[in-house]
This record gives sequence, structure tokens and C-alpha cells, in this order.
Amino acid sequence: MIILADSTVLSVSGKGGVGKTTIAALILKNLIIANNRSILVVDADPATNLPDLLDVPIDKTVGMVTDELKKGISKGSISTTVSKESMLEAKIFEILAETSDFDLLAMGRSEGEGCYCMVNHMLTKVVDSLSKNYDITLMDMEAGLEHLSRRTERDVDIMLIVTDQSRMGLQTAKRIREIADEVHINFKKMYLVGNRFDEQSSLVFTEATGKIGFEFIGSVPEDSLVSKYNIQGTSLLKLPKDSPSLNKMSELMKRINLI
Ligand SMILES: Nc1ncnc2c1ncn2[C@@H]1O[C@H](COP(=O)(O)OP(=O)(O)OP(=O)(O)O)[C@@H](O)[C@H]1O
Ligand SMILES: [Mg+2]
Repeated sequence: MIILADSTVLSVSGKGGVGKTTIAALILKNLIIANNRSILVVDADPATNLPDLLDVPIDKTVGMVTDELKKGISKGSISTTVSKESMLEAKIFEILAETSDFDLLAMGRSEGEGCYCMVNHMLTKVVDSLSKNYDITLMDMEAGLEHLSRRTERDVDIMLIVTDQSRMGLQTAKRIREIADEVHINFKKMYLVGNRFDEQSSLVFTEATGKIGFEFIGSVPEDSLVSKYNIQGTSLLKLPKDSPSLNKMSELMKRINLI
């Protein structure tokens, strides 16, 4: 039997375009199939791609409500007797998109200088407080490393780094690990996962990553249905249970006791 810690927080990071959002969707679909835990999905990428890929309509992002609040305060239409932070927290509950299988929160972005920090600060708060209400919180992170140096992942249990079968993908993964060490991000486990890999590359990566102390848990293959659904705008949650990418992701999740 698999015993999971209460409230697991899992983040998906990596270089731009390697398939972070796709991997997050495949993980979500497998969690839904397992059907034994409450799930919070956080789209932490300001580009807000995940709701689209899952076909979950989003009314507002955290960035948007942050802006509304700021404008309201400066116009004087919102009283400042209640703290900005508690008002934002209340708003966040309102904008949480609920589906029968999971809840979803999109961080988005807000306008103006310094607002990026505000949204990132809220992300940390969300992870700290909201995630406690769910068995598992799945975060799709933005590409690059800046968010990491802002310590928004400080309470992450499992950091999954996605790489393509290129040297750059691996270098980015190494850099992410370095930054995580530098800023003392408190993660319990870090795993590397390959996406759009062929079998041969998977073997090469297993060897190469072992040498640099990375735990490469395996890879997800190129899946023509994933591309097709992407172009059609069909939710990845509709992938058939026997689709190769979904099955392989399930295998990898079992390997790290996620299902
Ligand atoms: N295993 C796969 N098989 C086929 N196509 C894939 C696979 N993984 C990802 N793709 C395609 O690659 C493209 C990029 O994927 P995705 O948006 O998940 O990457 P990302 O890392 O989240 O990108 P970004 O850095 O912009 O957030 C998409 O068109 C997606 O459909
Ligand atoms: Mg993405």
C-alpha cells in the first residue's frame, strides 16, 4: 500500500516549451483516474495555458483581482480597514474554479511595476494556506528560473523538472537545481522527467544524469494524440486511458509513489 504524506505539493518546472503544462495535465489525468484524493491545480505561469489545455473556463486570475483591489483602494471605493492580504485571500476563494474532479486557481499576472512580486507573494501564500485543504496540490510553473529565485516554491514536496532530449534541457535542469540550493528552496524530492523521448535517449539520459546525481525517473514518449488535441483545442483530460503518454506517466508516477 502507498502511504502519502498529508497535503503533498508537487511542482512542474523546466525550460520553455519542453512540455511542463502537458506533463502537469497528464499527472492530473492519472490522479483523477486513481480517484482517491482531493486535488488543487495551480497554474503558476503568467501565460495561463493550463486552463485552456484542460478546457476549464477561468473568470479571473489572482493577478486580475490584485489589480482590482489596488485600483479600488487608490480610488477610495475599497476601505483599507481590512488588510489587503485578507481581502485578497477572500477573493481567491471566490475565483477558484471548481470541477467535479479538482479545483483550479490561475495566478495570471497583474499590471504595473512590482506587481509580479505581489502575485508571486500570493503564490507563496496560496501554497502555504490553500494547499492544506487538499490532499495534493499540482503546480504548473512558468519557464525559466526567475520564479525560483523568488522562493515561490519554498514549500514544495516534490519538484519535478521536465527536460527534452537535448543538452540544453539537461543544463537547465542542472541550473534549476543549483538555484534551488542557493536560495534554500525547501523541497523534499527532486526528480527529472524526460518528455518527447525515444527509448534510446532515455537510456542515454539515465546514464548521463546518474553521473551528475540527478534522479531521472524515465520519460514520456511523443504522442500524436497530445499534438492533435492541442491543435483541436480538445482537453487533455479526454485522452483515452490507453494513450502511450498517459500510460507512461502513470508508470513514472507509480515509481515515485504518487499513485
Ligand atoms: N509528449 C508529447 N507528445 C506530443 N506533443 C507534445 C508532448 N509534450 C508536449 N507536446 C507539445 O509541445 C508543445 C509545448 O508543450 P507545453 O505547452 O506543455 O510546454 P511548456 O513547457 O508548458 O511550455 P511553456 O514553457 O510555454 O509553458 C505543445 O504544442 C504540446 O502539445
Ligand atoms: Mg506551460
